[in-house]
Parts: sequence; structure tokens; C-alpha cells
Amino acid sequence: MVVAGLSSPVLLASLLALVGVCSARSDAPRGVAVGFVFDPKAKCEPPCEHGGVCIRNNTCFCSRGYEGETCQYANCYPKCKNGGACLRPGKCRCRPGYGGRYCHKVTCDGGCWNGGDCIAVNGVAKCICPSSWTGSKCQEAICPQGCRNGGICMAPGICSCPEGWLGGACHTAVCSKPCLNGGKCISPDKCRCRPPFSGPQCEERKKSH
Ligand SMILES: *[C@@H]1O[C@H](CO)[C@@H](O)[C@H](O)[C@H]1NC(C)=O
Repeated sequence: MVVAGLSSPVLLASLLALVGVCSARSDAPRGVAVGFVFDPKAKCEPPCEHGGVCIRNNTCFCSRGYEGETCQYANCYPKCKNGGACLRPGKCRCRPGYGGRYCHKVTCDGGCWNGGDCIAVNGVAKCICPSSWTGSKCQEAICPQGCRNGGICMAPGICSCPEGWLGGACHTAVCSKPCLNGGKCISPDKCRCRPPFSGPQCEERKKSH
């Protein structure tokens, strides 16, 4: 049997008064209204747990934060959310993917980078990334222009280009020596010449017959 309303302040005050009387402390509060009968010879078997007091045969008065016939269960207020278990008063053990004092927050494994928000989508924690980032942790930058010729997108819109290429999308070849006579640098150190020119820099004029 469990005394109803165990967490009621009046009952708690009553019990504290009774405990005070029993332990004969001179500074214990006296004359507080007794809300229930306290039997000093009461036996509780199995015994009250977690500091609960046996007030009548097989009736435990639980200390704050515990409930159950023998005060065996911790309670958490607010209750543990999202399937979390109450470990001890006010302390929840959360299921994977949830965190916070009451398991009310979702947690994304490894966190969300670059300003991503961790939210629950159909009960699964997921990073929602800002528009210029992607990947499970928002760890990959997006280069809308693309990074060509082996370039790597390093930050939003910024490509890191291999040697010999330049430009926002690594689309411009670099010729260390200029292409002459209207020739065009089409890949690193390679000129495409306009007729009638030829040679590495389009510096030679073909002999016309
Ligand atoms: C409590 O139980 C004991 C035996 O375990 C019994 O002697 C006693 O009378 C009981 N008290 C009450 C108030 O029923």
C-alpha cells in the first residue's frame, strides 16, 4: 500500500515533524497538524528504499523524488521525454539521439557544423544545413559554379584549383609563357594557335607555298 499524495507539502511537513519528535531533537518543529497516523512500531517488508520512512505496516512514506510501494522508483519532473528513463530524481537517461536534462533535445552524432541545426525528422536526429553546406554534418561546402579540372570546393563558392588552373570554377588554364598572335591558352602551358601560326607560343609563322 502506498500513501496517496506523498509529495504533498502538508504531508511532508507532518512527516518531518514526526521524524523530529521521534529523534527527540529539541529544535524539531512541533504542533504541526498530523495528516496521517504514524506508527513508530510499523514494519515494512521489503524495507522502504531511498530514504523512505515506514509509517504503518507495509506502508512507506517516500522521500522527495521517489515513488512506488517501497519507494523503489525515482521520478523526474518534468518527465523524461522521448522514451528517456528516470535514473534518479531529476536525472534522465536519454535514448540515443536525444539529450538535454529531460531528453527534450535531439542530438546529432558528432554535431552539426557550419551553422547546421539538429532537428528530429520522423524521430531521427538530422542536421539541417544552411544553403551553402551539405553532408550529414553540413561538413561539405557547395560551389554552385562547380569546380572543374580537378578543383575541390573548399568553402561555399570557393574552389581550390590544381596547379595550372585558375578562376572561380578552375576553368581558366594558365600558360606560364603567353600565347602569341591571337593564340589561346587551352590547358596548362598549351596554346591553341590561330592559323597560320604554330609553335609552343604560336610564335612561328608557317611558310605558305
Ligand atoms: C504490524 O505488524 C506487526 C507484526 O509484523 C503486528 O504485531 C502489529 O500489530 C501490526 N500493527 C498494526 C497497526 O497493524
